[in-house]
Amino acid sequence: VSRFDLDEMIAPLKYENGVLHLLDQLRLPTEERWVPCKTYEEVARAIKDMIVRGAPAIGCAAAYGVAIGARQKAPLDEVCKTLAATRPTAVNLFWAIDRMKRLGTTDAAALEREAIAIHDEDIAACLAIGEHGAPLLPEGTVLTHCNAGALATGGYGTALGVIRSAHRAGKKIRVYADETRPFLQGARLTAWELLKSGIDTTLITDNMAAHLMKRGEIQSVIVGADRIAASGDTANKIGTYSVALAAREHDVPFFVAAPRSTVDLKTPTGAEIPIEERAAIEVTRIGDREIAPRAVKVKNPGFDVTPARFIAAIVTEAGVARAPFEGALERLIKG
Ligand code: MRU
Repeated sequence: VSRFDLDEMIAPLKYENGVLHLLDQLRLPTEERWVPCKTYEEVARAIKDMIVRGAPAIGCAAAYGVAIGARQKAPLDEVCKTLAATRPTAVNLFWAIDRMKRLGTTDAAALEREAIAIHDEDIAACLAIGEHGAPLLPEGTVLTHCNAGALATGGYGTALGVIRSAHRAGKKIRVYADETRPFLQGARLTAWELLKSGIDTTLITDNMAAHLMKRGEIQSVIVGADRIAASGDTANKIGTYSVALAAREHDVPFFVAAPRSTVDLKTPTGAEIPIEERAAIEVTRIGDREIAPRAVKVKNPGFDVTPARFIAAIVTEAGVARAPFEGALERLIKG
């Protein structure tokens, strides 16, 4: 990836003079609007409301939030507690807050430098994930679920970073993007950023994937992750598990791409990963339109866990892990 590509890169967050500017992911694809966050409370609200979303991007935003809190001279414990209470599943949030705390200072300039380092390292990790992952993708159509792209990271993307790298290496790759009900990250965000990057993209609804696999129209699947347990079990956006089940049945390789900050060796298996429950309104409405009776009961888990045995490989910036993941992930993290 050349300097030019980096300059042209889609960025979901920019930090300037103590203000974190977030590309409002609730308004895409119809409007490209930046939201300035001048306080740590505003950063926390933006994470909770999903103005910024995607595990690595949440981590970067939280790190800047800690630095902004220090500028406000707010008690650091309170700042970290508020930021940590926003979303429970993506471990990058807690990883980034811990790293900021470990600096052991309340000096705003030092915390700012650390947040910038976390952001820069995340972009570098995505570029390396792209390099490691691109050779794994067979030519043909790759299916992705949710948005694990530039918008979900410091920039470039994890799963979409692999697709970008394969595309620029000259591989003939087409993408099927699952719309990703109920929040529609695939339709709104993945389709938007892949089109912007000139990658051949076709939008499908989530319930079409198994049918298309059966007809031989999908050669591989690649997704991101919100938290990878030591066993390799992987939490990602709700619906990922069904995609993995279908891929298994149809012998389609299923890949996970994530930075090492998403691997949580302290969580032994997927059963211990906390799953966010989200508001009913996301299911009963599309945009402003009500599509269900108001009185109906609703369930809305935001994530599911794909068992390690369904995963062909986990691509990180330090290399590719394959089953058995236990030792392999630990070696990549500690190496
Ligand atoms: O609820 P979201 O939009 O934050 O969920 C995002 C995902 O599930 C992504 O696939 C994951 O965070 C990986 S992003 C590189």
